[in-house]
Amino acid sequence: MQKIYAAITAVHGYVPDYVLTNHELETMVDTNDEWITSRTGIKERRILKGEGLATSDMAVPAVKGLLEKRGIGAEEIDLIIFCTSTPDMVFPATANILADKVGAKNAWGYDLQAACSGFVFGLTTGAQFIESGKHKKVLVVGGDKMSSIVNYEDRTTCIIFGDGCAAVLLEPNEEGFGLVDSVLKSDGSGRPFLNLKAGGSLRPASYETIDNKEHFAYQEGQAVFKFAVTNMADVAAEVMERNNLTAEDIAWLVPHQANKRIIDATANRCGVSSDKVMINIHRYGNTTNGTIPLCLWEWESKLKKGDNLILAAFGGGFTWGAAYLKWAY
Ligand code: UT7
Repeated sequence: MQKIYAAITAVHGYVPDYVLTNHELETMVDTNDEWITSRTGIKERRILKGEGLATSDMAVPAVKGLLEKRGIGAEEIDLIIFCTSTPDMVFPATANILADKVGAKNAWGYDLQAACSGFVFGLTTGAQFIESGKHKKVLVVGGDKMSSIVNYEDRTTCIIFGDGCAAVLLEPNEEGFGLVDSVLKSDGSGRPFLNLKAGGSLRPASYETIDNKEHFAYQEGQAVFKFAVTNMADVAAEVMERNNLTAEDIAWLVPHQANKRIIDATANRCGVSSDKVMINIHRYGNTTNGTIPLCLWEWESKLKKGDNLILAAFGGGFTWGAAYLKWAY
């Protein structure tokens, strides 16, 4: 029997209209455009403004746009995997909320939590349901409303993150296009360095957790940087090596957009020249689960059938991983 691959057959994204520039941040915390640009590569990020708007509200236009592009109805979706670290609520799953909002009446779904590696983990997980023959149409959504967990008085984190969301559709392909391989890793001993301390079962919300600002993302930047810069590069190189790929074989490197210096190190390690690296960190910052699918969305018109893509990510947990994808259209 012919092997079934899980191919991306459509991608669409959404970023909110509000642009938070480095200059505006200069009026909020003790920072400056030069520092942010040279240390991170970020110039601006998008923020979802407005009462009652959550991560799923960015996913709705992303998914509606995707369905329209592909020319299918929401009721054809079998499964939704929503990769996010900022779910609308602790429960029910944002995947369920999204299914209701877009009318995906025949889909089941769940949220996947792997911080910034979420989309690579979700893509690999979603692909299993296609490869097994169990499902025909799987939506993998990656997105975060990071502004809901960012402390805009903490200059070490508020300059990095932004809001955004994008989705891909996975469908069966028997010609060898789609997800070919992935390497996924995690190390829970990294949890002290990047986390959100309260609001879970360990530290339920209380006046104390609020006073201590424990409902905001906490990061020890340098420690995370050290792990990220080596592990993201290593895992990208590993997936290339075990598939006998050299830099010449790669059409695009699609790195998680956490820091331009980490992106450059990953590209160097893989030997991939900068013109083959998808970078939009200067406009969107770090949208956590949104970065990689947002890149795919923005570069969609440049992608060609058969292009070899390497996706690579690193995030809180720690989690990290890379995927080798043969573009299908
Ligand atoms: O996406 C998931 C995984 N996350 C990551 O991959 C992020 C990894 N970490 C990083 O990207 C970087 O560590 C940061 C961008 C967060 C920080 O950059 P850094 O080059 O590691 O800076 P640092 O934390 O070592 O701080 C250097 C200096 C410090 O001042 P002193 O102690 O040298 O006087 C900071 O207080 O820069 C200061 N600083 C700032 N100055 C101006 C920290 N944040 C700022 C700021 N503006 N926003």
